[in-house]
Amino acid sequence: MAVPNFKDKTVWVGDNLPVMRGMNSACVDLIYLDPPFNSNQDYAAPIGSVAAGAAFKDTWTLSDVDVHEHGELADRHPAAYSVIEAARVTHGKGMMSYLIMMAVRLMEMRRILKPSGSLYLHCDTTASHYLKLLLDAVFGKDNFRNEIIWSYRRWPAKQKNFQRMHDIVFRYALSKDVTWNQLYEPLAASTLKADGGKKIINVFDESGRRKRGVKTGEDSPGAPMRDVWNIGVIAPTAKERTGYPTQKPLALLDRIIEASSNEGDLVFDPFCGCATTLVAAELQDRRWIGCDLSPLAIKLVNERIRSYQLPMWRGVNVLETPPKRTDLGKLPNYRTHRHRLYGEQEGNCVGCGLHFPFNIMDVDHIVPKSRGGNDHPDNLQLLCSGCNRSKGSKTMAEWRASQER
Ligand SMILES: C[S@@+](CC[C@H](N)C(=O)[O-])C[C@H]1O[C@@H](n2cnc3c(N)ncnc32)[C@H](O)[C@@H]1O
Repeated sequence: MAVPNFKDKTVWVGDNLPVMRGMNSACVDLIYLDPPFNSNQDYAAPIGSVAAGAAFKDTWTLSDVDVHEHGELADRHPAAYSVIEAARVTHGKGMMSYLIMMAVRLMEMRRILKPSGSLYLHCDTTASHYLKLLLDAVFGKDNFRNEIIWSYRRWPAKQKNFQRMHDIVFRYALSKDVTWNQLYEPLAASTLKADGGKKIINVFDESGRRKRGVKTGEDSPGAPMRDVWNIGVIAPTAKERTGYPTQKPLALLDRIIEASSNEGDLVFDPFCGCATTLVAAELQDRRWIGCDLSPLAIKLVNERIRSYQLPMWRGVNVLETPPKRTDLGKLPNYRTHRHRLYGEQEGNCVGCGLHFPFNIMDVDHIVPKSRGGNDHPDNLQLLCSGCNRSKGSKTMAEWRASQER
């Protein structure tokens, strides 16, 4: 298992993709992400709230995503690419752009999760069906565990629709050895009346069919928790309300962290907003790290965690530069891959497609180093020296676009 190449209680200000690309593989126990939902809205915190000034955009067009990521997906993850292509046909380019943004990030999340780890993705019906397919493609359909319905009530509004009052949280685990602490909920009134709150043991007949339940003397811990969770939205006057747009209740995160991690485990929220996950992790003695694009969100993280006045609090480690992987071993100079790459590509340049003699082939980084790419053989390709010079630190798609102009 890789050792984390960052300190506990670190929050990165900036895009989570280069941050995750710089993190060692298999070092995180639990990832909860509450990304933008593709809601076609822009969010801002109310003036006067603790979070005033915080804002983020949730409208997506192809110009919002790195088109290079689209090309990279087509090349490296045909299943994810097919899902995105289907979404483009049925839903349009906005959904496609949103899913490209999500797909490349989910691929990194899978890499940094431990085999015993879990991922919880929070979304709503705007994109949930497409995200489920994308998650199946990236995490494997057999690793799907739950579709949790977070059911809540809010101010009702009459419309020709059933009121939409739930969010969806998909849960994936990377293996059967997943960390799992069984949670319980109160027994139904009818069960309490029938069994008096005592544990029941099932008795089976010879064919394995349940015959009856036998009451034991032991108190029942309750019923194993269902996948429909009734948790109120944060009340306007609640102490935990920061005013940060789309802030989630601590009670929701408490449950996720308790079920899928143990004390000392590492919890990561790559879209951490005003730090709900990080606060819940801190209060349950987990290690934690987070990331958010918005500097205001990061300011709130510090203030909010401090406001809980936790005894051992030594402050958040705020970073702007992504970590650098330390688990790749000592990589040989990337140019030593020239012969292999030349053979694999049959001497054809990935840029212009022309066949070139070996001595004018250059090794190029698919994900540029300035965007978190590394010298690992998986991130290398050959270009003829002419193409490589004109490409510079652009991505392939940016370079191709510049060639077409
Ligand atoms: C739905 S909010 C998260 C709210 C959070 N769960 C809470 O309780 O406060 C989504 C967050 O993702 C952040 N975000 C959007 N794109 C990002 C990216 N590429 N990298 C890091 N953060 C991003 C936004 O700034 C926003 O704070």
